[in-house]
Amino acid sequence: MFRYTKIVGLAVILAVSYQIRADEVKNDVEILPPLAPLGEPPIPPDNKQSDAKIELGKMLFFDPRLGGDTSTPCIVCHEPSQGWAFNDGLSRGYPGTVHWRNSQTIINSAYYNKLFWAGAAASLEKQAPSAAKGGVAGNGENDLMEARLALIPEYRKRFKEVFGGEWPLIDDAWRAIASFERTLIQRDTPLDKYLMGDKSALSDEQIRGMDVFTGKGNCIQCHNGALVSDERYYNIGVPSAERWETDGLAQITFRFEMYAKGSNEELYRTAKADPGLYFRSKNKWDKGKFRTPSLRYTMYTAPYMHNGVLHTLEEVVDFYNQGGVDKNGKTTGWPENKSKIIKPLGLTNVEKEDLVAFLKAFSGDEISMERPKLPPYVPLFTKDELEALEK
Ligand code: HEC
Ligand code: HEC
Repeated sequence: MFRYTKIVGLAVILAVSYQIRADEVKNDVEILPPLAPLGEPPIPPDNKQSDAKIELGKMLFFDPRLGGDTSTPCIVCHEPSQGWAFNDGLSRGYPGTVHWRNSQTIINSAYYNKLFWAGAAASLEKQAPSAAKGGVAGNGENDLMEARLALIPEYRKRFKEVFGGEWPLIDDAWRAIASFERTLIQRDTPLDKYLMGDKSALSDEQIRGMDVFTGKGNCIQCHNGALVSDERYYNIGVPSAERWETDGLAQITFRFEMYAKGSNEELYRTAKADPGLYFRSKNKWDKGKFRTPSLRYTMYTAPYMHNGVLHTLEEVVDFYNQGGVDKNGKTTGWPENKSKIIKPLGLTNVEKEDLVAFLKAFSGDEISMERPKLPPYVPLFTKDELEALEK
């Protein structure tokens, strides 16, 4: 009887600790979702797709009038020729700032349950306003942006057609942008073709690289399923951004973000690395954890990681091969939280080359897009109408 209670007790403790650290506890029992062809993205029932809505969303995505001083439309940090991201380690920011994180590609963002590096937004509809209004991104004000839309007759017409109502509402702008983003997907990569039966879609080198990915390299542990992401959060030991040490503006923005996101005074003054998931959970074991990103479209989205410290896929593979450490063999941010899964891999040069070749199979052709023509402002009243009103 005593032994039985002890066993039950132990089982409860194990179950509870599994719950708490579910991101880390990976045992032989867990069956990893295999790599798979990407299906259609989920469409929320309250924001159905339509051609008119998608076209409107596209215009708004390119339109600088959604933002503060009209210099930061979504497109400037999600530039098609830069992988629909921004090709500097840290993204450009609102004038007078540098962004504190690397800009993510929006290709395939339609598939994630949580957006941003640390999963701070729960849907594309909620992500868009946080981008357009965030202090270091768009820095816009709802009232002002809505007023600007009202002064553009073409938008009044299009919003009415899509959403009804005489005047454009800012929340509808975010819904249209989200609909547009749900069309920015890529499902015809060499890997998708291979997995659907076209065995010639991958080279021999890439097929050997796939074995490294799923075997000795153990990438599949976190980068799995059709999206090539388990959407969990890990500290994999990414070194902190050098610019936070050397570039005054980057340092100021980093500290500002720390404060704005509710870190305590000590963290605000002393942190050398991005606390990541900690900002959402406030659990100390979440410091330095980020969402596993999809590896799709990464051929075009260098540099890599939440702060863009790794410049090429070759550097990424070297980083993992060394066990997730910086050039001095150390982990900068919260080494106590580093995932136990990340350890030196002992890959040979050929295995590393094969793996890099395979990583390229997650990307198809580059997706480009013609810039839409943006409609002009027209005053709400003519001079004569205004004079008549004033009488
Ligand atoms: C000044 C640069 C900048 C502007 C302007 C900007 N973004 Fe971003 N975007 C970023 C950065 C940097 C990140 C990552 C930030 C983070 O994780 O904290 C990001 C992340 C995202 C993501 C998340 C992708 C993922 O994989 O989770 C989406 C979606 C996105 N942006 C869409 C937009 C939209 C829509 C707009 C316009 C309303 C916009 N962005 C404007 C820089 C920018
Ligand atoms: C323990 C889970 C885990 C394992 C195992 C893992 N990754 Fe990652 N991977 C992540 C996380 C989390 C990030 C983002 C980390 C950050 O920015 O701090 C990432 C980022 C990346 C990126 C950068 C993507 C981008 O958009 O910037 C690439 C490329 C990558 N991993 C490839 C690999 C390869 C190749 C392997 C196997 C050698 C591997 N990963 C193993 C979790 C993992």
